[in-house]
Amino acid sequence: MASSYEFLMILFTLVFISTLQAAIAATSSTQTYKTYIEKACNSTTYPELCNFSLSPYASKIKGNPQKLCKAALSIAIKATHNASSTISKLLKQKGFTSFETSILKDCVANTKDSIDELKQSLDAMRHLNGSDKESQMENMKTWVSAALTDDNTCMDGFDDGQDQVSGTLKNRINDIILKIATLTSNALSLINTLKF
Ligand SMILES: *[C@@H]1O[C@H](CO)[C@@H](O)[C@H](O)[C@H]1NC(C)=O
Ligand SMILES: *[C@@H]1O[C@H](CO)[C@@H](O)[C@H](O)[C@H]1NC(C)=O
Ligand SMILES: *[C@@H]1O[C@H](CO)[C@@H](O)[C@H](O)[C@H]1NC(C)=O
Ligand SMILES: *[C@@H]1O[C@H](CO)[C@@H](O)[C@H](O)[C@H]1NC(C)=O
Repeated sequence: MASSYEFLMILFTLVFISTLQAAIAATSSTQTYKTYIEKACNSTTYPELCNFSLSPYASKIKGNPQKLCKAALSIAIKATHNASSTISKLLKQKGFTSFETSILKDCVANTKDSIDELKQSLDAMRHLNGSDKESQMENMKTWVSAALTDDNTCMDGFDDGQDQVSGTLKNRINDIILKIATLTSNALSLINTLKF
């Protein structure tokens, strides 16, 4: 009886130790993956935002540069979706001049184009295979650059009609667009470092 009890105790202890080891290993690999993201983000235009936005996906990205770029693009797409719907909702409020309304409508169109372009880039990323890798890479960069241009086009509308737009509205849209443009710019920086 005593010996089978001891056997069980030893068994439990072994199971406990191996579970503990697995937990420690998982923690240290998550740390390795997070460090990878910090390093990769260091070469982007906005390193802190890059690290902050990608760090939660460290264990999914697993130090893989392609997964890193896919995650960066997905984050930019989600944020641009949010920006687009935020501006659409804003448009439903009353009290804008017709000039302001037309700029806001343009911004909704710009951000929708931006979403399409980022999606095209993500799609090209998924087809990075075989012989046309290099042209797919070029396509990816072209689509993300186009998205960035569209984000900036929204802000250009405000600069063109400065005296006809309230400063509060301009600042509000500027905050929204700046956020998505920085995320998009970071995705482009990361894509630019991809090598095959
Ligand atoms: C980031 O870059 C700076 C200087 O460019 C360097 O001092 C720092 O060690 C880098 N950090 C990481 C995590 O690579
Ligand atoms: C990167 O983000 C993680 C998690 O938010 C944070 O712990 C770490 O200090 C950040 N690194 C840098 C270099 O900002
Ligand atoms: C490779 O990419 C081409 C062109 O983008 C695509 O048509 C094809 O389905 C892809 N093949 C695989 C195996 O993913
Ligand atoms: C969506 O956009 C609003 C307004 O810019 C912002 O406050 C909010 O944090 C955003 N949410 C997400 C999930 O990005």
